[in-house]
Amino acid sequence: MKLSDLFSNEEAIPSEFRLDKPINQDNFLLDGEIVKWRGEFVPVYSSIYIRKGNRLAQKKLGFYPALTKNAAIASLQAAKKAFAHGNGEWPSLSLSGRINCVQNFIERLILKKETIVKILMWEIAKPFHELEDEFERTIGYLDQVLEVARKKEKSCRVLKREKGIVGLVRDEPLGVALCLGPYNYPFFETLCLVLPALLMGNTVILKPPRFGVLFFKYLEEDFKECFPRGAVNTIYGDGKTVIEPLMRSGEVDVFAFIGSSRVANHLMNLHPRKNRLHSLLGLEAKNVAVVLPDADLETTIKESILGALAFNGQRCAALKIFFVHQDIVGAFLSALKREIGQVKAGMPWVEGVRITPMADPERVSYLKALVEDARCHGARILNKNGGEVFKSLFFPTVLYPVNSGMRIYSEEQFGPIIPVVSYEKIEEPVKYTLDSNFGQQMSVFGTNVRPISVLLSSVKSQVSRININAKCQRGPDTFPFTGRKDSAKGDFSTSEILNLFSARSTITARENEWSEWLFKAFRKQ
Ligand code: G3H
Repeated sequence: MKLSDLFSNEEAIPSEFRLDKPINQDNFLLDGEIVKWRGEFVPVYSSIYIRKGNRLAQKKLGFYPALTKNAAIASLQAAKKAFAHGNGEWPSLSLSGRINCVQNFIERLILKKETIVKILMWEIAKPFHELEDEFERTIGYLDQVLEVARKKEKSCRVLKREKGIVGLVRDEPLGVALCLGPYNYPFFETLCLVLPALLMGNTVILKPPRFGVLFFKYLEEDFKECFPRGAVNTIYGDGKTVIEPLMRSGEVDVFAFIGSSRVANHLMNLHPRKNRLHSLLGLEAKNVAVVLPDADLETTIKESILGALAFNGQRCAALKIFFVHQDIVGAFLSALKREIGQVKAGMPWVEGVRITPMADPERVSYLKALVEDARCHGARILNKNGGEVFKSLFFPTVLYPVNSGMRIYSEEQFGPIIPVVSYEKIEEPVKYTLDSNFGQQMSVFGTNVRPISVLLSSVKSQVSRININAKCQRGPDTFPFTGRKDSAKGDFSTSEILNLFSARSTITARENEWSEWLFKAFRKQ
């Protein structure tokens, strides 16, 4: 089937996946009120094209507000007022009180699964079943974080005693948290910043990512009902207009951001009080797969395809470059070509589909340029249909032999390109890893323990996770998820995320009868 045939007409879409009316998001949440926006709006088009006769057009999904600088500043003022130097209603509420509010929000969220998953499918073209999994994963993540909060709640009542000093150690909120999730996981990764931030008593300004915006319309009422006035504020629109003034104001206390290091650095540099700004960052990566000469090809190929192509490679944790030993590279490439032939491309509602339209159609020309550049420098496209492009669809492309003169060697493709480098000595992938600006994860494929452990000890200080005979990934969410160099700051796992949104604060006194009485009173608070 040709890529152009994969886009269908409206009638051919099964009714349960159709979006029958536009989602016109004409409000935003400000200081506890859902405010109607009277200004301009940003139209939202899906990267899924719909066929009408001989014509194809991106489906129009709706619109969202293009807030102005003043509207964004009003959100900041609302969040600041609600925090009130830690004395506002929300930060003053006990941790168990906040746990109840978050729990209530999650219960309401669960009821909206169907609506949210369907809108997201149209907004970012992720396979429907993967979105269902993402929804469940989010609920699971939040449940685990609630459990951590419950433990914290207990431990913050335990007195610490040493050398005649008695003390109570608590986790206090940091202030106003600006939370910005990414377009590849707009639901999971945004809510898994916002709700932990809230749990610790911070007040929040939430800005949806570039794609994956409209479903937030369905959460505003829940934010309003579950949290006190000003604890959650939403802003929409152009990042330059609405985010930059917030950072420039110096009033943002926590910058929770998942996106590129270029944008993160630019925004953080605008903040005039750098030492006051806490940041937690999930940034880009160029995760390496190293295929050792004794690798089991069946496992290697299965994991490589999952690692490189899940959601069209639009994952920070995707495998983005393959170093394959010269003794096995021929067999690896033949098996890879064969398996890629089995990968199904199509619309996200189709069962078993893996390759869908790119969430950002403009990314396609960037990917094409990477492929062209690699070809100019001597790489070939090895797989059938590799390099084929139609509108927002980009077919998986295996490039070989790749070398350091090509852009794909160092740039993060964030798309379904599989660049393969043949190596003779293990020092080659090790040097690549040492020289890289990124340090999120690595996958190692092999069967003999000795070469695996040699490689591990050379790169263990360069990346945050090494996956043996498995793709790179964030989950399970109890495991650390972080990175070195330009890949991350902070650990996003369920056990650590609350620590990133709080600061330890200690009350101490000399041990005596009076202080015992005093702490008894404190512990009840
Ligand atoms: O884009 C971020 C990460 O890739 C999210 O985790 O895709 O490994 O589940 P995952």
